[in-house]
Parts: sequence; C-alpha cells; structure tokens
Amino acid sequence: MKLPYAEPFRIKMVEEIHQSTRAERENWLKNADYNLFNLKSSQVFIDLLTDSGTGAMSDQQWGALMTGDESYAGSRSFEKLHETVRNISGYKYLLPTHQGRAAENVLFSVLVKDGDVIPGNSHFDTTKGHIEIRKAHAIDCTIDEAFDINDTHLFKGNIDLKKLEEVYNTYPKEKIPFCLITITCNSSGGQPVSLENMKAVKELSDRYRIPIYFDSARFAENAYFIKMREKGQENRTIKEIAKEAFSYGVGMTMSSKKDGLVNIGGFIALNDAEIFKKASNFTIIFEGFITYGGMAGRDMAALAVGLNEATEFEYLESRISQVEYLGNKLIEYGIPVQKPIGGHAVFIDSLGFLPNISREEFPAQTLANEIYKEAGIRTVEIGTLLADRDPETRENRYPKLELVRLAIPRRTYTNNHMDYIAAAIKNVYDRRNEITKGYKIVWESEILRHFTVQLKEA
Ligand SMILES: Cc1ncc(COP(=O)(O)O)c(C=O)c1O
Repeated sequence: MKLPYAEPFRIKMVEEIHQSTRAERENWLKNADYNLFNLKSSQVFIDLLTDSGTGAMSDQQWGALMTGDESYAGSRSFEKLHETVRNISGYKYLLPTHQGRAAENVLFSVLVKDGDVIPGNSHFDTTKGHIEIRKAHAIDCTIDEAFDINDTHLFKGNIDLKKLEEVYNTYPKEKIPFCLITITCNSSGGQPVSLENMKAVKELSDRYRIPIYFDSARFAENAYFIKMREKGQENRTIKEIAKEAFSYGVGMTMSSKKDGLVNIGGFIALNDAEIFKKASNFTIIFEGFITYGGMAGRDMAALAVGLNEATEFEYLESRISQVEYLGNKLIEYGIPVQKPIGGHAVFIDSLGFLPNISREEFPAQTLANEIYKEAGIRTVEIGTLLADRDPETRENRYPKLELVRLAIPRRTYTNNHMDYIAAAIKNVYDRRNEITKGYKIVWESEILRHFTVQLKEA
C-alpha cells in the first residue's frame, strides 16, 4: 500500500481556541459593521482570514530567536539572512523590511513614476495600491483560463504572452519600468506560474528591454507545483527550481510572513547596484538602517531558518496536501471552488454559491459573513470590495470572479479542523436559497477600502 503523506513534525505546544453561539456571533458581526477584519480574534473559532504571519514556527526557529544579534548595523543575524536569501534566490543584495508591502513601498519609490504601467499576473491588492498611489497603473495579463473556476489548467497563474506583448507595443518603454510576476498568484486563487512561462516572459521582455521582478511571497509553494506538475522538473529539488525561477528576473519583493514561515518580516533582494543604492535610501527613511529594515535581529535569525524549512519537499507536501484535502471535501459537497485547488487557500465562487445576491450587494462578503455566523470561521472577501473603485472614475470595479478565500495558516490546524470547516460551509450551501440579501456600504476609505469598510444589511 502506498503510504499517505503525513506532517513531518509533531506538536509541542498548543493554543486554546473557543467556540461561541450563533447569537453571540450575530451580535459581534453587527458591532463589527459586518466587516470581518473588525472582529476580535477571541470572537473567532477557526481563523482563515489569511495565511500571512499566522503560521507556527518550528523549535529550530524559536531556538534561533535566542541567538539573534540585535546590533543596529551589520548584525550576525543580517549576515545569516543575507547568505540564506543569496543561496535561495541567487540575488546579490538584500534589504530587509518589516513586511511585504514595505518592500513594495521601498522598491516602487525607486522604480515607479506617475503615468507608468506595470504589467503582471493579477497584482496583489497592496501591490496594486502601491502602484496606484503613485498614479501608475497595474495591467493584468493573466491567462483567461484563470477566470474560469472549472478550467483545470495546471498553471493558472501564467502570464498571457499576447496580452503582455500588447502592453509592450502600446506604451513607450520608458513608461514600463518592469513586469511583475507574482508567485504563486494569490489574487487568481493561489495558482502557480510554470517555469516555461517565466522563461517565455523573460525572452519576450528581453526583446523590449523590460526587466522582470518577482512578488515572491509564496515562491516555495510555486516551486512545489512546478516539481509536481511540470514535465521534466520531477527530479529536481525545490531549491533548484526556485533558483531557476529567480534567474529569469532581476529582483524580488518578499512577504516573509508566508513562505518565510515567520510572523512578521519582508525583504527586497536584487542584483542591480544602482537600484540597491537608491532603495537603500528609501529603506533608511521608511524602515530603518539597511541591515535590519524594521526587523529585530532575532526575527531575521528565525526567518533564515524558516526560508530553509519552507523549501523542504516534505513540509510543502504536507502543507499543500492539507489545502487540497479541504478543497476536495468542498468539491465532494458540490460547492463551486476554483480548480485546481491553490497552494495556500481554497477559493469559493460566491456567484455560483449565492446566485440570489446581486453584485451591487457584495456576494462574496455576504458569503464570508454567513460562514462566520454559521460556525465562527473567519474568511475573507476577494471580490468587489477588495477590487476598490477605479481611481479616476470612482466607479466600483467588478472583478471577473467574486471569491471567498479560505486561507490556511501553515502548520497550525489539523485535518479535523478541515472537516469542521467543510461541514460548516455545506450547511450554508444547503440553505443558500434562503440567503437573499447582501450588504450596502456605509463608509469606505479612498484606497484599500476592504480593510476598514463599514457595511449595513441591504
Ligand atoms: C502576493 C502578495 N504580495 C504581497 C503581499 C503583502 O505582504 P504583507 O502582508 O507582508 O505586507 C501579500 C500579502 O498577503 C501577498 O499575498
């Protein structure tokens, strides 16, 4: 008999979580203006809001914390992190930042100007925010298959070369500072990008002399999918695959809260000495001195260990198999989800789930709130609220998909939790026809509104 996968770790410490009553949850949700970000964690039983910074560190990482060097400049922990990032990415220079969006802020302060366009594959919301706040535009060149939840294309994060070339032909070169490849592509469902696609994007971009940067928050999960799905890659290690991927770009931004397996942190790694110098100045202004950039020495030490653990096959197999386990349960119950199942999350198609809710009443938010009321499970809307308004017309932007994301924290929940989540969602699905009203906005911020939006029942 073929042995199933099993977690390559055992549990040394536990944290209690508490269930609540439906009446309590309804009241808490109302007081939170129907925005799940406003809930206290004590009001949540299973928290799938994000996989960002919510995972469990290993004993080796906790041990590394004790060896952290808190020197302001040139600490041993920075050296260790630098060496680890260089080994994994091949990039020469490292600038730590306090998290991924801070890396975007620093790098884009150097590279992005008013009127620029940045093509890529479904830019993440903070990435888009950092582009748009500079009056530049993010252009989505993801392949069309990504927007059909039932299309089982194995690399739904891929960039459509025709769409990309059209951008390169439409705008002058000076207006396109770089092309951004997000691995895995969070916004299209945690979907991977193939090595073949990265290579083709590089060849095309070279012809137009446009450099490639990676938004690499989940680069290790992306490499796992390449190993499992791309012909000819099956015998390579995760680190070998990741290094080849990074070789197609000139630099990366990283949210270490994902595949760094730490609770806070980020960085920029790149090869160009001039850009490094300019970015160093912005790091000092926004983050801190260039050898800590907003991170404690101990956090850099834990990150160096985490990056090595996250690029181990056995870890990735158990992590991604758990997400798939939940996804397959939902499919078994007939619930419409993005297929194939993504690396860090299962994405439910709320338009298929709640056809009675019009897009003006935010079906994905409505579903997320129903799941919370049902069982105390916090998820997140990846739909019209997140898509924000068009910065020029101020009209709502309706994305192609209205998704609810169930992001699974790393090394945190068991498969019993997955069974519980699937059962709760099935219960909501069974009464979907009774859900006929969504939400209206009472107040919203100008940008990244979903974090703080206030809603009322429609
Ligand atoms: C693809 C991607 N890029 C960037 C970020 C921003 O990182 P952070 O939350 O560390 O600021 C995220 C966070 O979820 C992400 O998923």
